[in-house]
Amino acid sequence: MSRKWWKESVVYQIYPRSFNDSNDDGVGDIPGIIEKLDYLKELGIDVIWLSPVYDSPNDDNGYDIRDYKKVLGEFGTMEDLETLLDEVHNRDMKLIMDLVVNHTSDEHQWFKEAKQSKDSPYRDYYIWRSGKEGKEPTNWESAFSGSAWEYNEATGDYYLHLFSKKQPDLNWENPDLRAEIYDMMRWWLDRGIDGFRMDVINFISKDQSYPDAEVEEGKQYGSGAPYFMNGPKIHDYLQEMNEQVLSGYDVMTVGEMPGVTPEEGALYTGEDRDELNMVFNFDHVDLDSGPGGKWDVKSWSLVELKEIFTRWQNQLAEDGWNSLYWNNHDQPRVVSRFGNDSEEYRELSAKMLATTLHMLKGTPYIYQGEELGMTNVKFSNIDEYRDIETLNMYKEKVEQGADPDEVMEAIYIKGRDNARTPMQWDASENGGFTKGEPWLAVNPNFEKINAEQELQNPASVFYYYQKLIQLRKEYDIIVYGDYDLILGDHKDIYAYTRTLGDEKLLVMSNFSGEKVEFELPENIHYQNKKLLISNYDVEENEDISSVPLKQYETRCYLLK
Ligand code: NOJ
Repeated sequence: MSRKWWKESVVYQIYPRSFNDSNDDGVGDIPGIIEKLDYLKELGIDVIWLSPVYDSPNDDNGYDIRDYKKVLGEFGTMEDLETLLDEVHNRDMKLIMDLVVNHTSDEHQWFKEAKQSKDSPYRDYYIWRSGKEGKEPTNWESAFSGSAWEYNEATGDYYLHLFSKKQPDLNWENPDLRAEIYDMMRWWLDRGIDGFRMDVINFISKDQSYPDAEVEEGKQYGSGAPYFMNGPKIHDYLQEMNEQVLSGYDVMTVGEMPGVTPEEGALYTGEDRDELNMVFNFDHVDLDSGPGGKWDVKSWSLVELKEIFTRWQNQLAEDGWNSLYWNNHDQPRVVSRFGNDSEEYRELSAKMLATTLHMLKGTPYIYQGEELGMTNVKFSNIDEYRDIETLNMYKEKVEQGADPDEVMEAIYIKGRDNARTPMQWDASENGGFTKGEPWLAVNPNFEKINAEQELQNPASVFYYYQKLIQLRKEYDIIVYGDYDLILGDHKDIYAYTRTLGDEKLLVMSNFSGEKVEFELPENIHYQNKKLLISNYDVEENEDISSVPLKQYETRCYLLK
């Protein structure tokens, strides 16, 4: 397996709106990020992934881009962004940007022209279809509720929007559109950025016959996913993008890909296929979704979680590369979801989850605040929420007669604003995020959970993440070792080994709030062992053939 800098890196995601507000207008900004670069350097990360900072009307917080080559005023200026890039590079870190090219904003100049007339030169940059018997062209549902098609008066037909109606989908069938996108990508890369995270990039190729979706009884719309997820020309487009853009630069790429399977993941990331370096798959974060989708919350089991990670680890073992993540701006906080956010176990379980993920094979991603063990939030009133997905869903469900309290329960568990509450820097007002009115309220637990406090406490979650990152720099085996699951059927322990030459890593994590016994499989032999990291105090020479693991205990040993 080839050595690459992006395999040896740890990535930190910044959601700019919620990171740090330098001018007290309640919205995080680029100068605010610059102020915190030393904090990130201290954590030890290598790469920053910046969620969109482009000009946008913010229907979906920047994932609806009005101008790809302009910075949103609230966030700062192009000069600020250039300074950020320089300051990141000065500290020996890298910066990757979000690339949102499945759709634009409906306020993008292309769309503004396209919707005016069928003769517009930009008309074919988007996806237009006539209605069917007075209805939408297909019965597909938008990810943000309602139909995925919107009627356009001026031209008498509909445009496709898989997300909000202010996010019209781009028509990748059109070579001129593709050329514009590639051009824009080169424009950014020539400015010195170090790669892209590509938003829902496996949605860009649609089945041109636009079939209807299957619809559940009693519902108006269904999922069109089979007709646009990993669509017919997706590999052609990515290979073309690679050939025309990416191959000219030493950059990293990661494609966000809902619905991607491990087999497809191997195709997207295979070394000789020249597409992408990594994909974000959704299997583990879909684990607590029932048949009714994301908001149909169901319980999850550790055995299933292990199966999912193991399937991906095995499928990409020889060729391809995994991305490893628990959190991002779309997902609830991991300590609340797969750990335990009670006062007693929050820190222990946050460290346990971090160890379990960071010792897998792949590139780990940390989402802002994860390194502090930030938790989900419960606002009592729907008016306190800001996320378009959450608000549309609430409105639709309540209009259809659902019990508002039950809908709120689902939002507490799954809503995207769990991840988007402002970063908790200190115990001052608004957690030190802003002196103004924050665009989304700060989680009220900021007085207890914040960066300042953690930086003063050597046993904090912050320093634990720092150590995990340092270990990756010291031990090749953490990056390149082969993964093997052990005790696969154990319902509370996630244990695995990594092997490189005559060394082994042994990771054991107790996912439960009970004490459980770890039994080392007999086929694992070693002469020497060294404890690399643990979240409880451990006797260095403790026998590990049988280990009584405490609540949420995790350990990682190096065996020789
Ligand atoms: C995925 C992004 O992560 C999410 O925040 C956004 O709403 C959709 N793609 C649409 O761009």
